[in-house]
Amino acid sequence: MARHLITSAIPYINGIKHLGNLVGSQLPADLFARFQRARGNEVLFLCSTDEHGTPAELAAAKADKPVDEYCAEMHAVQARIAEGFRLSFDHFGRSSSPQNHKLTQHFAGALDAAGLIREVSEKQMYSNADGRFLPDRYIEGTCPNCGFESARGDQCDNCTKQLDPTDLINPYSTISGSTDLEERETKHLFLCQSQMREKLQAWIDSKTDWPLLTTSIANKWLNDGDGLQDRGITRDLDWGVPVMKGDDVWPGMEGKVFYVWFDAPIEYIACSQEWVDAGKGTGWERWWRTDKGADDVRYTQFMGKDNVPFHTLSFPATILGSGEPWKMVDHLKSFNYLNYDGGQFSTSRGRGVFMDQALELLPADYWRWWLLSHAPESSDSEFTWENFQVSVNKDLADVLGNFVSRVTKFCRSKFSETVPEGGSWDAPEQALIDELTTRVGAYETYMETMEVRKSAQELRAIWAAGNEYLQTVAPWTTFKTDPDQAAAQIRLALNLIRFYAVLSAPFIPDACASLMDSMQTSDTSWPEDIQKSLETLPVGHAFTVPEVTFRKITDDECAEWQERFSGVRT
Ligand code: 2FM
Ligand code: ZN
Repeated sequence: MARHLITSAIPYINGIKHLGNLVGSQLPADLFARFQRARGNEVLFLCSTDEHGTPAELAAAKADKPVDEYCAEMHAVQARIAEGFRLSFDHFGRSSSPQNHKLTQHFAGALDAAGLIREVSEKQMYSNADGRFLPDRYIEGTCPNCGFESARGDQCDNCTKQLDPTDLINPYSTISGSTDLEERETKHLFLCQSQMREKLQAWIDSKTDWPLLTTSIANKWLNDGDGLQDRGITRDLDWGVPVMKGDDVWPGMEGKVFYVWFDAPIEYIACSQEWVDAGKGTGWERWWRTDKGADDVRYTQFMGKDNVPFHTLSFPATILGSGEPWKMVDHLKSFNYLNYDGGQFSTSRGRGVFMDQALELLPADYWRWWLLSHAPESSDSEFTWENFQVSVNKDLADVLGNFVSRVTKFCRSKFSETVPEGGSWDAPEQALIDELTTRVGAYETYMETMEVRKSAQELRAIWAAGNEYLQTVAPWTTFKTDPDQAAAQIRLALNLIRFYAVLSAPFIPDACASLMDSMQTSDTSWPEDIQKSLETLPVGHAFTVPEVTFRKITDDECAEWQERFSGVRT
């Protein structure tokens, strides 16, 4: 049994996420986790909320709440919506947890002991109007790299370049809008990433099977300009992990906290401690410490492309630099952006469909199917209502739903609500089994290698093969002359329903659970041998005709939703 550690990028606490966020990390991570569990492997699937830094402070201020209260509430909201989307985290933690505070401080201590932390007196933007230093996101301005006008102080959302607030052209305070900013001297801790450039380069070079999207971003920051730069890992904020050295405040770092991007990835590890402390599991070390059994773990991370520099450079620098035997990521799956109806999804601008709104329109499976089958893998992709309608109506309702309905209703009307007896399988059945053997093999390969769209395509083809088989053998015609043979055909088709439920559950878990209920079986064993798998439900096995598995989206609904979501969410 293989052991899979799977983490999804941890979403910022500052509000409900949109569908673009969902498809960029949590949802494909869930697909992979469900697939690995279905294959009988041991999985630890973790996600948390990213609660520190300016995004949290700004959102709490906007909601007029103390930041700790705001974070606790929003964590509960995000957890509930994640459940609504059936994201099967083993634990949904919080980066503000005591476990993460302790571990973040531990890493800083270990990096310091290794000589990889230096104190830097630097000039930082001070806002006279606001009476405070303005860290990263409290400043926006024009990106010096690409000219994007709303680049943040820490990173440009347009070109992904990591920035320092002082790099911005025409900077302004996002608190007051004031441009009355001046540079003042302040002291911060820096992580000496530049000293680890070669180690990191060698590590990246060893990842020959990583997607180009991932390695090209890492290589860019390792080699562009003067190469990898040291990064400030502290900020002038109240909310965050206090900068401690052992039990005392780090001299000179009074009133400062670690930079959110320093503590956020450490939360992946802390989350496993939270999982243990919540009584959900034991032995977090066997997932994370290579000296304590994590050597045989396969660790996969999922994230959007803007997160790649932090996961290929900054976080590995923290881990490698500590000199301790931590498990490093084995595979990093990154995604491009999903756009919304001719523009970008945007949390700050309230543009697009947000996770809570989506669930009010349709059950999770409809969204899961569309998002995963259109995952922005090789390039950005776009959500349009027409495309959503077509996919749902064709793939889910016509291909899968219709198959289930035809087969179960035909059986009920001509035989009974049990798997019928008689006849035997012949050439068309063998041809179907051969086709399914090939296709399921391809499906498994795509799922293993996290080729999400190709997996969805293959699954759709597996569903379509069932319909084609029905068209070819036409049990409704066979029945008139040879009811026994029609029984054999329907026996296979009924078994196909269970078979589909097992294979499709990572994509559409709720629908598959109800198909399993209708087929009155709990046998979710993965089809290692296709023929055997299609003999699981024996003659006489009872079933019920399911309610509509997937309904169609009407033209009126499609038009109405397009209109309703064309504006800005307030
Ligand atoms: O981009 C984001 O939503 C970040 N909150 C992701 C952090 S991932 C990790 F480092 F924890
Ligand atoms: Zn830019």
